[in-house]
Amino acid sequence: MTIQTVTDAIRYVGVDDNTLALFENQYPVQPMGVSYNSYVILDEKIAVMDSVDARAAEEWLSNVARVLEGRSPDYLVVTHMEPDHSGSLMRLAQKYPEMKIVGNAKTFTMIKQFFGTGEFSEDRMLEVGERDTLSLGLHRLRFLLAPMVHWPEVMAAYEEEEKILFSADAFGRFGSLERTARAPWAPQARRYYYNIVGKYGAQVQALLKKISALEIKTICPLHGPMLTEDLGEYLRLYDLWSQWKPEKPEGILIAHASIHGNTAYASEALKSKLEGKGAQVTMCDLTATDLSYAVTSAFYCGKLVLACSTYDGD
Ligand SMILES: [Fe+2]
Ligand SMILES: [Fe+2]
Repeated sequence: MTIQTVTDAIRYVGVDDNTLALFENQYPVQPMGVSYNSYVILDEKIAVMDSVDARAAEEWLSNVARVLEGRSPDYLVVTHMEPDHSGSLMRLAQKYPEMKIVGNAKTFTMIKQFFGTGEFSEDRMLEVGERDTLSLGLHRLRFLLAPMVHWPEVMAAYEEEEKILFSADAFGRFGSLERTARAPWAPQARRYYYNIVGKYGAQVQALLKKISALEIKTICPLHGPMLTEDLGEYLRLYDLWSQWKPEKPEGILIAHASIHGNTAYASEALKSKLEGKGAQVTMCDLTATDLSYAVTSAFYCGKLVLACSTYDGD
């Protein structure tokens, strides 16, 4: 793919995955695909921000090499150890034996669990903690621990010179960059959020509080597009979502599961009556809709009607 430029010094080197059927082996990502994002910061020192799923290792290594133009990276910053981001970590570490791995204490616990205790000598592991900084030259990263957004070791990194927030899974969405370049952010960000990060509302609130004091020009998440516009709106939505507040408080979701069509018929009748009274109704046929979409709609609307058939009297 074409290497995208975030800024002159910061390049996108992530990889689109348009062939994966189920993200985390459970969330349908067809036809929109998904991206595993990674970035390179070019300065006196070079930092690679996260790796990609093992499925995408070859393309990622080649993207990184093209951006490096013969130089070697000094650091691989690991903000999240889930395999969709750490799956190619060892490949880069083996290719560039001088490169240090940057993570927090929990990151290194996981690295040892995932890859074995003997893989990295102590001097290759650069441990950082809350608000620690890593200077690359003009650019400087400040680390903000974000445990449980979405795993215990997650951290965000704020690049102070260009005011870029590397936000890990936060603000990510389904959809490869190629296939969803012009798609609105919110629909697939909402589905990603509620299904994958949604349980950890309090922890997302804690991260939002930490970043509220920062001037942010760009958000670089680990999935989906780099965000440069409408950041206020995306922050507002994340604030709502992480408080489990509905976006449409008056909206009604009727979710039905019908065996011979009669419960569906009753649901349609209810919909007509409610709409006759001016209500905004969303219908969801649970027998034909993936659960991840139904869950998202349930959080989106303020009210929920479940219309289910009994089966064998149950
Ligand atoms: Fe994750
Ligand atoms: Fe992820």
